[in-house]
Amino acid sequence: MEWKSKIQSLKEEISQYKIENKEDVEKFRIAFLGTKGKLKMAMGLIAEVPGELRKEFGLLVNEIKNEADSKWALSKNAFEHQQEATQVDFDLTAPAYHSHLGSLHPITKTKRRMVEIFERIGFAIFEGPEIVNDWHNFTALNMPQDHPARDMQDTFFLTENLEFLLRTHTSSSQIQALETEKLPLRIITPGRVYRNETISARAHCTFHQVEGLYIDEGVSFADLKQCIYYFAKEMFGSENIRLRPSYFPFTEPSAEVDISCFICDQKGCPVCKKTGWVEIGGCGMVDPAVLQNCNIDTTKYNGYAFGMGIERIAMLYYQINDLRLFWQNDMRFLRQL
Ligand code: DAH
Repeated sequence: MEWKSKIQSLKEEISQYKIENKEDVEKFRIAFLGTKGKLKMAMGLIAEVPGELRKEFGLLVNEIKNEADSKWALSKNAFEHQQEATQVDFDLTAPAYHSHLGSLHPITKTKRRMVEIFERIGFAIFEGPEIVNDWHNFTALNMPQDHPARDMQDTFFLTENLEFLLRTHTSSSQIQALETEKLPLRIITPGRVYRNETISARAHCTFHQVEGLYIDEGVSFADLKQCIYYFAKEMFGSENIRLRPSYFPFTEPSAEVDISCFICDQKGCPVCKKTGWVEIGGCGMVDPAVLQNCNIDTTKYNGYAFGMGIERIAMLYYQINDLRLFWQNDMRFLRQL
């Protein structure tokens, strides 16, 4: 029964085999389980086994094979995980990664600067909604149905009956403030406005404005002018502005505010359309019809209003010649501002 003692000693050998690392696991596999391993050789012993003992032989070999299999699987598992846990592929002494903090968008920064400048001279913030009705955006601002000035502001209407729309200017907030706030009133309303315009270097369908409104007794055009000059001085460090007579339905008299083009130093560029001046907004004395629409006693109160485009101011402030850059969120652009 030599075969039996051979099988027994193989069993011994397998259970005694020391597996201490990953390499030993592989050596064990090759030695016992591989195609030329000792278990295969043991199976060959069957030739020596007499017929009636072959069943016993088979069971024994199978048992040893199972033992070897599970020994191999267990140690493989153990050493693989051990390796993962102890594998140090990072340098604990290296400085931490610098995580990039977000920062304010240049339009937000410009808006905050503008707000802060006006707050210093007593303007309070009044924020109106972006969805407004016809009354607040047009009619109460002295632009009744069929008024041609409506065409200048291509509107995104929200309802079939043209009752609700996305505000085309922050002037709509003037009405909301006049309807709800007490007089005297000195407010600015920064916010987003919408116009169905073709996007270009100078225009976008979404942009931002800051509206100003001052209603009190005995307000004069000189007050308005001083306010605009003060703003230009604080924002750009320059009073190089001009007020050009103009027309708005909600102000009388009205003016457009131009500031000298810092981008080309008044030499002429696409931003100033080669004129050396950039229009930053409109202003004027509030038309009494507007105040009357809000039930305000016009024998007692009057005032001025202005509206400025934040993108225009930001373009001048940062010397940017294409408005679209503000919307592309290209980090290479934003990081510079
Ligand atoms: N709402 C005008 C626009 O978007 C700007 C404007 C002009 C606002 C004159 C005013 C103003 O308050 O007095 O084009």
